[in-house]
Amino acid sequence: MITPGRRSLALCIVSSIAGACSDLEPVRPTGPALTPTELRSVNGGHDVDATLRRQLTAHGFTGRVASTLETRLGRPIDRQLAEVGRLLWFDPIQGLNDDNTCAGCHSPTHGFGDTQPIAIGIENNGLVGPGRTGPRNQRRTPMAINTAFYPTLMWNSRFHAPSGNPFDNRQGFVFPAPEGTSLSYLPHLLTAQAFIPPTERVEAAGFHFPGTNDDIRGEVLRRLNDDARYRTLFARAFPHTPPGTPITFDDVGRAIAEFEFTLVFADAPIDRYARGVREALTPAQKQGAVLFFGRAGCVACHAVSGAANEMFSDFRQHVAGIPQVVPAVGNVTFDGPGANEDFGLAQVSGRSADRYAFRTSPLRNVALQSAFMHNGAFVRLEDAIRYHLDARRGAALYTTAKLPVDMQGPTGPLDPVLERLDPLLRTSAPLTEAEFTSLVDFVRNALLDPAARPQHLRRLIPGKLPSGRAGLVFQ
Ligand code: HEC
Ligand code: HEC
Repeated sequence: MITPGRRSLALCIVSSIAGACSDLEPVRPTGPALTPTELRSVNGGHDVDATLRRQLTAHGFTGRVASTLETRLGRPIDRQLAEVGRLLWFDPIQGLNDDNTCAGCHSPTHGFGDTQPIAIGIENNGLVGPGRTGPRNQRRTPMAINTAFYPTLMWNSRFHAPSGNPFDNRQGFVFPAPEGTSLSYLPHLLTAQAFIPPTERVEAAGFHFPGTNDDIRGEVLRRLNDDARYRTLFARAFPHTPPGTPITFDDVGRAIAEFEFTLVFADAPIDRYARGVREALTPAQKQGAVLFFGRAGCVACHAVSGAANEMFSDFRQHVAGIPQVVPAVGNVTFDGPGANEDFGLAQVSGRSADRYAFRTSPLRNVALQSAFMHNGAFVRLEDAIRYHLDARRGAALYTTAKLPVDMQGPTGPLDPVLERLDPLLRTSAPLTEAEFTSLVDFVRNALLDPAARPQHLRRLIPGKLPSGRAGLVFQ
């Protein structure tokens, strides 16, 4: 329902279905503000606060998930251990190629996520930011903030807690071979996950050091145990271990996970609103929220209830029909006969029906990202959402022109991707341009915890690394 006065507005989304809108032209993030009367009218005559409250209650959204962390851990955060984790995060001592570490891809300037549309690991130029160069891997680095609450990790959920609860290892933790379920004894999914990145050759280990994942971890431990500063740091963090006990990879995993536990940023305007602060959202954001939880159908996948832990993801895989961007220079062989595809979930399940399915992106703090979707196919949030609302139409108009030059080459096949498009994304509710703008406003601003902004997280960059290495330069 649109009031007569609004009819003259360009209804790009509606008209775009009829083919009248020329391209994926950007919509200004702050569109025309709706008056309370207009809000009521687009909302079917109902009071927007009453509707939104009803929706949040129906989905069990409390806005208090951050406060559950220590209860679920069963103990307070160990600040001293987290500090060791922070130093490791930034120290290339754990990258056997001597040029990368977690922070090279999980950068504090972007919510501990990527500064690039597709990650650049080893053989990089030492920069973290838009100027980072080097061979690309296959996917964009997700933000590490809030991962404490994720029951599945990675774009294809290949690391997961079968209990549906990352804090509960009673049903073990599942990883692909060679680790399998061998990391199940560790207390949290993130503690187990920390065993993997140093062993990834394209991410950190490089191709020179021979051997298995365990051999690589052994070599990283040798470096740490040879370093008097790290020995002291770990000894302080684990005061009950007898003096002289060597650092183990369990210790490393625990330290890194502890740092990640300190990276919970889930106090966004939507949380404050759910806790009763009515002014936490602007009228437009409330309208965007009502669409998100209602007619636009987003919450069906970007879920908040139950195992979703209010993270705006069902942590399942769906085909969203994203164009297959292929970097000109990379060190991962892509999938498919043309080596220009990403099979997503099928890489794990081996089933062709699972091709192109990726985990629903958790949307908290998505505004901090430099690019969107599993391969950074979009560098503007509004472009990503507009495509997502109508992938078939978006596909015809898609261009790589806004991506870094080395990602502007021919894309992989899109027809087989669109053939598998998730049924929920085949038909999308037509939105007026004002509704689209408020939906983007909600996703961009109402899900952003201001404490995760770059100026705050940059303070976590160590001035000096324990290993004495130079470290990476953050742009
Ligand atoms: C070369 C870049 C790179 C480095 C270095 C790197 N990561 Fe990642 N990380 C990624 C990418 C890319 C993904 C997603 C991979 C996928 O889904 O296939 C990821 C995924 C993750 C996830 C899961 C996030 C989610 O939303 O599921 C966590 C946690 C994580 N990394 C932690 C770490 C830690 C800890 C380190 C250092 C020990 C590290 N990473 C080093 C690129 C990197
Ligand atoms: C059928 C399930 C489904 C529905 C419905 C859905 N999404 Fe998504 N969404 C996904 C998946 C899956 C991805 C990741 C796709 C990929 O990268 O290949 C995604 C990615 C996104 C991203 C990019 C986030 C990032 O990390 O790059 C945004 C933003 C987003 N969705 C917003 C929305 C909004 C807004 C709606 C409602 C209009 C919506 N989605 C509806 C499944 C869904």
